[in-house]
Amino acid sequence: MGKKGNVIVGLDIGTTKTCVIVGELTDGGIDIIGIGSCPSEGLRKGVVVNIDSTVESIRKAVEEAEKMSGCEISTVFAGVAGSHIKSQNSLGIVAVKGREVGEEDVDRAVEASRAIAIPVDREILHTLPQSFIVDDQDGIRDPVGMSGVRLEAKVHIVTGATTSIQNIAKSISRVGLEIHGLVLEQLASAEAVLSPDEKDLGVALIDIGGGTTDIVVYAEGSVKHTAILPVGGNYVTSDIATGLRTPVTEAEKIKIHYGCAYTPLIPKDEAIEVPSVGGREPREVSRQILGRIIQPRMEEILNMAMKEITKSGCDEMLTAGVVLTGGTALLHGMPELGEQIFNLPVRRGLPTGVGGLKDVVASPMYATGVGLLLYGSQNLDREILVRIDRSIFGNWIGSLKRWFLEFF
Ligand SMILES: Nc1ncnc2c1ncn2[C@@H]1O[C@H](COP(=O)(O)OP(=O)(O)OP(=O)(O)O)[C@@H](O)[C@H]1O
Ligand SMILES: [Mg+2]
Repeated sequence: MGKKGNVIVGLDIGTTKTCVIVGELTDGGIDIIGIGSCPSEGLRKGVVVNIDSTVESIRKAVEEAEKMSGCEISTVFAGVAGSHIKSQNSLGIVAVKGREVGEEDVDRAVEASRAIAIPVDREILHTLPQSFIVDDQDGIRDPVGMSGVRLEAKVHIVTGATTSIQNIAKSISRVGLEIHGLVLEQLASAEAVLSPDEKDLGVALIDIGGGTTDIVVYAEGSVKHTAILPVGGNYVTSDIATGLRTPVTEAEKIKIHYGCAYTPLIPKDEAIEVPSVGGREPREVSRQILGRIIQPRMEEILNMAMKEITKSGCDEMLTAGVVLTGGTALLHGMPELGEQIFNLPVRRGLPTGVGGLKDVVASPMYATGVGLLLYGSQNLDREILVRIDRSIFGNWIGSLKRWFLEFF
């Protein structure tokens, strides 16, 4: 943790909103001192598709956060998402020098695990140690000091497409900001909404935003699986617009005010007024009908998430159940629908673990933003993941080959 009085900034460039959260490092942790948020224009499904619009959104959110916090923002921890992200588990094996495992052996074993075939157009974003094996003893969290001759590191590796990462980095550097680290969004969200007990027991975090659904499974305190699905709450809004023949902006309002993902929770005789398109009279529609548009789409998204978790072999690990976060987790009836689909306890995850203006960020929409602060504060002294090298014609990925190691 850094010095008291230092400021740390999280930048979440989401498909629907870009938000900047400013925290002050204190003796007890992090106090939120400012936030700026503005609608995103330049992203599709978590990926930057228009740099100019993205730059504009970041600039506005940063200005707002600077005004509120009274701080000048120069460096940020930023989130990365999108279906270009891939992950895999890997094993690194080394001989132990001196018959007792030292920190340097651990570093070498983790480094060895990174020797996997990665296509030239991809970069490693995270190298997350899961557990270690010393000689034949499996499941060791911290092998330092143990006697043995052979050390194996089980590691979860996350990679992303170089061009997609470059486009995020370019957008941020055009605003004149430096990137302290790029963090996979669900790893950030997990820091803000999951408890250490849940991570130990086994839990799936599903962050359902506007354009993506980001998944991370933890068990035995470490990351077992990560995945990103290119679906989110915006699909629900378009379904409502089509189903009720109303403009998308009205569909969004209707979803937020009257939407429900689980029809048994909707009173039978409630009706809502739906504005029509083309100057026609507004109509009355029952809330049950609205629910019957929303529920199948949310079922589809949650079933896709479950299939992904089952495919990875992590479905048996979820003793602590499932946590839903991201803006779409606010939809009425989501935990109830989730329990039906997963057959496990399901709760909504709101960001916790920060002080100061914590009420302002107490929404699942800010899980990633707050999580970036928490993740960043734990990794302040580590190697910088991505460095901007402005000297080479704005070619931003410097010689970033000093790898960033993250430990539990
Ligand atoms: N009260 C609410 N009820 C239902 N849905 C909501 C509510 N508030 C926000 N949403 C939905 O949440 C989504 C935005 O969530 P969030 O801010 O987490 O997304 P994002 O981070 O911008 O996008 P992504 O993570 O997918 O790139 C939108 O689809 C929005 O309609
Ligand atoms: Mg998001």
